[in-house]
Amino acid sequence: MVSLVGAGPGDPELLTRRAALRLAEADVVLYDALVSPEVVALAVHALRVPVGKRAGRPSTRQESINRLLVRAARRGKRVVRLKGGDPFVFGRGGEEALALSAAGIPFEIVPGLSSALSAPALAGIPVTHRGLASAFVVVSGHAEAAYTPVLSALAPGSATVVVLMGLSRSAGIASLLVSKGWKRTTPAAICFAASTEDSFTWTGTLGDLGAVPKHEAPGTIVVGEVVSLAGVLGGAHEQPERERLHASR
Ligand SMILES: C[S@@+](CC[C@H](N)C(=O)[O-])C[C@H]1O[C@@H](n2cnc3c(N)ncnc32)[C@H](O)[C@@H]1O
Repeated sequence: MVSLVGAGPGDPELLTRRAALRLAEADVVLYDALVSPEVVALAVHALRVPVGKRAGRPSTRQESINRLLVRAARRGKRVVRLKGGDPFVFGRGGEEALALSAAGIPFEIVPGLSSALSAPALAGIPVTHRGLASAFVVVSGHAEAAYTPVLSALAPGSATVVVLMGLSRSAGIASLLVSKGWKRTTPAAICFAASTEDSFTWTGTLGDLGAVPKHEAPGTIVVGEVVSLAGVLGGAHEQPERERLHASR
């Protein structure tokens, strides 16, 4: 049996109960680079294998990961494939599920809290809010060809835009939106390392988005009027959260 488990954004308290249970019972855990060490540590009995993929760094090939999963399951091990956020949101979880299905290996999906929602929420940004946004769109910034048609089709300001894997293309994404009629003064944010002790949020405008200094931490971009709420709902939450995480170490 293989469990494709969502690890949430980082803080172990944001795991589902089922995710924590599968980790506690696992014999083998294959985990991605963005899964926090605190979450991996919950697999107390397991052989823990990093198969991480970080932009620009060596990673285990997808085919090898699929093979490792199948091999471990055939040996009768309880296998957890641990992925950041939710396994089916830009995580290639679907491909792994298909590979397991093709090999006749029973599997389950344990959904996780995606950074697409949790990173804005922890920064005090509701992705929908009456009077400000009644829809939100989540895109990957990884490939221009994937996000361009989606963002181009949006009426300016009609939805909150959330971009994962978008830090290296933030300038291009901002100019695309501006070229489609979005105001340069539209509030924008980047939520870095949400739910970890290193979390911080940059807030500014769409016009400034491309000039945010580069940072090693993973970040989620949010564009839309809802970002203006971060000033009211955000700071109050992030500080005690950071203190709590420090205190628990
Ligand atoms: C390959 S995608 C995987 C997304 C994941 N499956 C999910 O549902 O959150 C990785 C991207 O998620 C975002 N991300 C992951 N962890 C994050 C965190 N703790 N804080 C902010 N953004 C995060 C970043 O945009 C990063 O580039």
